[in-house]
Amino acid sequence: MKETDLNNKETFSPLVPEYPINIGGVKVENPIWLAPLAGITIASVRKFYRSLGAGLVHTEMVSALGLCHKGRKTKELLYGSDEERPVALQIFGSNEEDIARGTDVALNIRRFEALQINMACPMPKVTKKGSGSKLMEDPETSAKIIKVMKKTGLPTWAKIRIMPATSAVTTSEYCELLFDSGVDFVFVHGRTPEQRYEGRASRESVEEVARRFPGMVGGSGDCYEPEDFLDYLRRGCAAVLAGRGILRDVFIISKTLKELGADVPEEYWNPSLDFQSELLLELGRSIYNTEGQSLALMISRRMLGALFKGFAGAVQLRRRGAITKTWQEMEELLLDWKNVQHMQPLDFTKEKFPNGVIGGP
Ligand SMILES: Cc1cc2nc3c(=O)[nH]c(=O)nc-3n(C[C@H](O)[C@H](O)[C@H](O)COP(=O)(O)O)c2cc1C
Repeated sequence: MKETDLNNKETFSPLVPEYPINIGGVKVENPIWLAPLAGITIASVRKFYRSLGAGLVHTEMVSALGLCHKGRKTKELLYGSDEERPVALQIFGSNEEDIARGTDVALNIRRFEALQINMACPMPKVTKKGSGSKLMEDPETSAKIIKVMKKTGLPTWAKIRIMPATSAVTTSEYCELLFDSGVDFVFVHGRTPEQRYEGRASRESVEEVARRFPGMVGGSGDCYEPEDFLDYLRRGCAAVLAGRGILRDVFIISKTLKELGADVPEEYWNPSLDFQSELLLELGRSIYNTEGQSLALMISRRMLGALFKGFAGAVQLRRRGAITKTWQEMEELLLDWKNVQHMQPLDFTKEKFPNGVIGGP
């Protein structure tokens, strides 16, 4: 018999055959993990995706300097419930002193199963201060950061991008330096920093590193279908990150787990529209109660673009969701989703939707 949770919703075990195993020093039930996504992987979203099967979740990147200055907003990024475990804290900073002090502050607030240094973010507001992917140009500082993180005694991970063809150091050589410095696991996003989020992620480049360091490397980039995740695993990756894929299909992780042999109830790979609205309500209410109204609205609107596929009223639902001003309005819309088809259609006009509608008109 399947278990049910407090809302009488069927839950499932995300265990895939031959798991649990230890990856990068952390015991996990499967290799399909929730990526760090700034502004999205807040505590409620992490808990939600654990309940949808993610083997591990990441916090979004947290500033080491912000933690040193004990910024309230920065510290809030650390909070979360035990239901989300295992959870990795992703931190960013430009030097080993800030990272040492920042991780110390974080670990005094809360325990994490792993610590991960962000060496991948290509955005100028991060790189211009020497953090994120800028660290890939500075192997010496990268090594010092890993060594100082190792002193916490926690599994120490890094997330990097592939090196540009013009770099004197290859991605494998850079990883070798990180492993020599003591890193326990490295995620490789198959784009160069210059590419940002454009173009195709190179699975071939990720595979090269994964084959060189078996069991120590995870893959990230362009995972939208279960087959994408399976391909990274076949190419030797020990784990794969679900990133933007969760914003296109809320059930991408559970669908992939089914392919990997987990016992996934049908609602999680062939969800009814009722189940989809229930889940979105559950997520939105959790965000509203924990992180507040504006995030509840922002994330619900994004998720509306990843749900109700095939429903004739999906476009109207997204349009109506885009103009809700309070969580109350969003909640009423989600409770009444079936009736949206009988409501006066909202036109998609530039005046009404100056910023567009997430998920397309
Ligand atoms: C909105 C957004 C926020 C992101 N935030 C982070 C972050 O905080 N830390 C990080 O290492 N990567 C971050 N990433 C990168 C993702 O973790 C992932 O590596 C990348 O999106 C490639 O995977 P995908 O093509 O499957 O989305 C972010 C990506 C997006 C789109």
